[in-house]
Amino acid sequence: MTMIRLTNITKSFATVGGSVSALSGIDLTIDRGEIFGIIGSSGAGKSTLVRLINLLERPTGGDVFVDGERVTGVQGAQLRALRRKIGMVFQHFNLLSARTVAANVAYPLELAGIYDKAEIAARVARLLDRVGLTDHAAKYPRQLSGGQKQRVGIARALACEPSVLLCDEATSALDPQTTLSVLDLLQEINRDLGVTIVIITHEMDVIRHACDKVAVIDHGRIVETGTVRDVFLHPKHAATLGLLREAEPDQAHRSPSPTTGATGHVARITLVDEAARQPVLARMSREFGVDYAILSGRVGHIRQTPYAQFTISLSGADPVGALAALKARGVDVEILASPRTGATNPGHPLSQPELAHVV
Ligand SMILES: Nc1ncnc2c1ncn2[C@@H]1O[C@H](COP(=O)(O)OP(=O)(O)OP(=O)(O)O)[C@@H](O)[C@H]1O
Ligand SMILES: [Mg+2]
Repeated sequence: MTMIRLTNITKSFATVGGSVSALSGIDLTIDRGEIFGIIGSSGAGKSTLVRLINLLERPTGGDVFVDGERVTGVQGAQLRALRRKIGMVFQHFNLLSARTVAANVAYPLELAGIYDKAEIAARVARLLDRVGLTDHAAKYPRQLSGGQKQRVGIARALACEPSVLLCDEATSALDPQTTLSVLDLLQEINRDLGVTIVIITHEMDVIRHACDKVAVIDHGRIVETGTVRDVFLHPKHAATLGLLREAEPDQAHRSPSPTTGATGHVARITLVDEAARQPVLARMSREFGVDYAILSGRVGHIRQTPYAQFTISLSGADPVGALAALKARGVDVEILASPRTGATNPGHPLSQPELAHVV
């Protein structure tokens, strides 16, 4: 079921010299209970996009729907109700320095004006327990580490029991270890409370670790969207490849391409989940009498799911038969270069007719 829907959104900002277009032609659907990532490089339009969801920015064109309701033009009490439904977490935490941890978390509950003191205290205690800060309730923000500050930010964002949590670069100011622990907390919140979470980031590793789906944004447009598994293992757009290269500078997206200098058949084999634990290449080698050299490889996890992806060049008795047999067993095989067609297609598999010719 759809939680957030943006249809044909454009956004431009008036400037001294005229106007800048920050977003154009944005169509996006985020389902209830998902952890949805939006990734792009600096200036791509990520913050503008996420701020449209809680109407911190108003679109120039198009519509915003939240939980089935068109919210594009809402004002006043309706707008305040919408904002209570949508919590937000910021890169630089935005805590009130003169308030204690507990008082920071209590703040939105006080503003809501519908809870008495005892109710607020009970809620704050529950929230601090959820984010693991019970022992720090009486401290001030300056006495906390970055990771602890962000936990306060998350507890505060959850105070009014929102159904959506927007996180704009929530881990970008944190070290890698702390980033992982905050991403784990967000996943726990998603699982336990069913909160739909939107994660804005410029880091592919954040997407890989925490998200179900992802949209890649480039120059104000969504250029690629899908499950993290598809986009991460089979990137299509140059912007996605660029973001992957930042995360994995020496891997499959390196330049010059992995097929450079290789002779014979070059194929990319992708193994996910159970298959990633199987000796697929060794078996192929034994059964078909082919040798292979690994030109590049990526091994890791997408959320909890293991994956392994190798670009290999094959030689020996029957490379074509070997690859066809792997495919017939359901292995994800993409032919990148083949001596028979003379085709080389770095980074992009051959088209269906080409493939039929090879395999
Ligand atoms: N209030 C504003 N006035 C004028 N231009 C703006 C405004 N806010 C954003 N922009 C412009 O819109 C574009 C998108 O900005 P946005 O902040 O959404 O990018 P971003 O992807 O969040 O970047 P970063 O990763 O650096 O945070 C940029 O060209 C930016 O300069
Ligand atoms: Mg931003």
